[in-house]
Amino acid sequence: MTVVGERGVPGKCETFSGVRRGHLIDLRRVVKVYESAAGRFTALKNVDLQVDEGEFVAVIGKSGSGKSTLINMITGIDRPTSGEVIVAGTPVHTLGEGAMAVWRGKALGIIFQFFQLLPTLTLIENVMLPMDFAGLYTPRQRWERAMHLLDQVGLAEHAYKVPAAVSGGEQQRAAIARALANDPPILVADEPTGNLDSQTARSVFRLFEDLMRQGKTILMVTHDSDLAQAVSRTIVLADGQIIEEYLARVFPALTESQLVEITRQLEPIRYLPGAIIIRRGQIPDRFYLITRGKVEILIQRDEGREFVVTTMSRGQFFGEIELLRGGQAIATVRAAVDAGVEVAALERKEFEALVSQSEAVRQAIERVAEERAAVHMAASGRAPEGGEPRRD
Ligand SMILES: Nc1ncnc2c1ncn2[C@@H]1O[C@H](COP(=O)(O)OP(=O)(O)O)[C@@H](O)[C@H]1O
Ligand SMILES: [Mg+2]
Repeated sequence: MTVVGERGVPGKCETFSGVRRGHLIDLRRVVKVYESAAGRFTALKNVDLQVDEGEFVAVIGKSGSGKSTLINMITGIDRPTSGEVIVAGTPVHTLGEGAMAVWRGKALGIIFQFFQLLPTLTLIENVMLPMDFAGLYTPRQRWERAMHLLDQVGLAEHAYKVPAAVSGGEQQRAAIARALANDPPILVADEPTGNLDSQTARSVFRLFEDLMRQGKTILMVTHDSDLAQAVSRTIVLADGQIIEEYLARVFPALTESQLVEITRQLEPIRYLPGAIIIRRGQIPDRFYLITRGKVEILIQRDEGREFVVTTMSRGQFFGEIELLRGGQAIATVRAAVDAGVEVAALERKEFEALVSQSEAVRQAIERVAEERAAVHMAASGRAPEGGEPRRD
C-alpha cells in the first residue's frame, strides 16, 4: 500500500511493509492451487488480506468461493502454494509440522461447523485438552480455568456430560470454550453457526460479540448475511478473490465478475492525518472509496479561509463529481486530522469504463454527486463557479 503525508511532510510518499505496521493477520499475494487427478484448481488467486487487533471480520461468499481454503491458510491447517501468511508476527507458511502445532495451540482458537469435540470425553475434559497439549497451567489451574470458561458460555452445569448428551448449540458453546482455553488473541471460525437453528445461531453469535468486546480478534466464515451485518467488517470472496467490500455495497448493480475485475484495479492508499487528497481547484484524476478512517471536506467561504463542512467515513466515496462533469475540484478533501484515512482509488479511465458499463451505477453516482454539490453550494453561500445553480 502507498502511504501519503508523513507527519509534518504533507505529500511525501513512501511504500511500506505491512509487517512493520503490525497487522495481526497479514496475507500477502496468497495463491492456493489444488492438484488432484482431475487436474489443477486455483482456489485462492493472489489474496491480500489484513486484519487488525480487535476487529470482528465476517467472510462471506458462495459455496466453493474459497472461504475454508482462506481460513485454512491462516490456521496453518493447509499451506499456500505461494505468498505469505503472517499471523501475530509469525510467518505461518514457513513453520514445520511440530512448530505449527505448538504455535497454533497458543495463538489461535479454532471453531468448526461440526464442533469437532471428542465424543468420549466430557465437556470439561474437551476444554482442558488444549491446555494439556500446550503444557500451560498446572493440572489444578486447568480444571479451574475450564470450569470458568464453561461458566462463561453458560455450560457450567453440563461440565461432566459427554457431547452427545447436550444440544448442538451447547456443543458449539463448549467448542468455543475449548477455543478459549489457552487465551489466544485470535479466534477463527468456519461457519460456526452453519449447523444450528437460527435462534441458537444468534445466541452463539452474541457470544462471539462478547468475546470481541473482551479484546479478541475474530475471523468468521458465515452464510448468514444477517449476522454478517453486525460485524465490524465483511470480506466477500468470489471465485478465489476478495471483492472490495464497499464496492459491492455502493454498487449493488454490478455483477460478481465486474466486482472482481474492478477490485483488481483499485489501488489501496493510506493518507496520514491531515494529508491533502484533493485540493480545491485541482483537476482530480481518480475516484476514491473510503475503506477505513475518515476524510474532511473543506470549503472556502467568501474567498476566506477553508473550513470543514462535513466528514465522510468508510463506505462513502468522493472525486466522482469532477470525473463525471469534468473540471476542477469544488472542495478540498483531506485525511481527518485525528484519524487519517485509507482509500481504494480507481483511475479515471477505469472509473469511466465502470460508469459506462452500467446505467444503474451511473445513476447511483449521479444522485450522490447532486446531493453533495447542493450541500457544498449551500455551505459556501454562493453558486458554483461558472454561473447559475443547476436545475434538473
Ligand atoms: N483438497 C482439495 N482438493 C481439490 N480441490 C479442493 C480441495 N479443497 C477445496 N477444493 C476446491 O476449492 C474450491 C474452494 O473450496 P472451499 O475453500 O472449501 O470453498 P468454500 O469454503 O467457500 O465453500 C472448491 O471449488 C473446492 O472444490
Ligand atoms: Mg467452506
